Amino acid sequence: MKVVVTKSYDESCAYVADMICKLVNEKPNCKLGLATGGTPVPMYKKLIEANKAGKVDFAQVRTVNLDEYCGIPETHDQSYRYFMNTNLFDHIDIDKANTYVPNGMAEDVDAECAAYDERIQEFGGIDLQLLGIGHDGHIGFNEPADHFSCGTNCVELTDMTIDANARFFANRDDVPRQALTMGMQAIMQAKAVLMVVSGADKAEIIRKSFCGPITPEVPASILQLHPNVTLVGDEAALAGLKEEGLV
Ligand code: GLP
Repeated sequence: MKVVVTKSYDESCAYVADMICKLVNEKPNCKLGLATGGTPVPMYKKLIEANKAGKVDFAQVRTVNLDEYCGIPETHDQSYRYFMNTNLFDHIDIDKANTYVPNGMAEDVDAECAAYDERIQEFGGIDLQLLGIGHDGHIGFNEPADHFSCGTNCVELTDMTIDANARFFANRDDVPRQALTMGMQAIMQAKAVLMVVSGADKAEIIRKSFCGPITPEVPASILQLHPNVTLVGDEAALAGLKEEGLV
């Protein structure tokens, strides 16, 4: 694993945006796995700036997002489709038909999950998967469990995740209780994984994920088995790794 310790959140976002731009410039038809959450938002702004400045061209890029809430339409301002459109896709030269987010309103959830995995396989897999991390160690919406998920699946969100994401909704009760998430197979098969973290509140879960046992109780710990992970974060978020002597 490569760990990049930055002086600030802004520097982390700049580093990650540069990595993505480099990949897109080298492979204009690459497949990007994208993430939501608060952490990548400034990084997406940097991608928009780079695109507007003519430094990167997304016209041939395909994207596949990690997850989507169940039961809210894509027009809902908290759906992850809406998030991606407003934070990135609406502002760059990507063809929206080449952007995929699971359909959280699908009537046949199993068929939707299977179709999502088939699409990723048709792509030939993901070139670069961007990840954040939840305080309970979730990646995508793969919550702590007694086993690692395999394919795209429907999950029950934990109380910790509902609490964390309640800040985006008018009331905690409005936070969906279920979500569709890409499983560990597609994440682990991505050619490269790029995790971005920020802030002291993530330090303990980062320590557990990368220095603790590999266990589905800490879903991100599976990344210890991935051959090409880059973890980018500020000093506060990576303080636990420093204490463990990993950086
Ligand atoms: C959500 C998303 C995750 C994301 C996590 C952390 O739960 N499903 O993909 O990593 O939030 O979000 P934040 O970056 O806001 O801490």
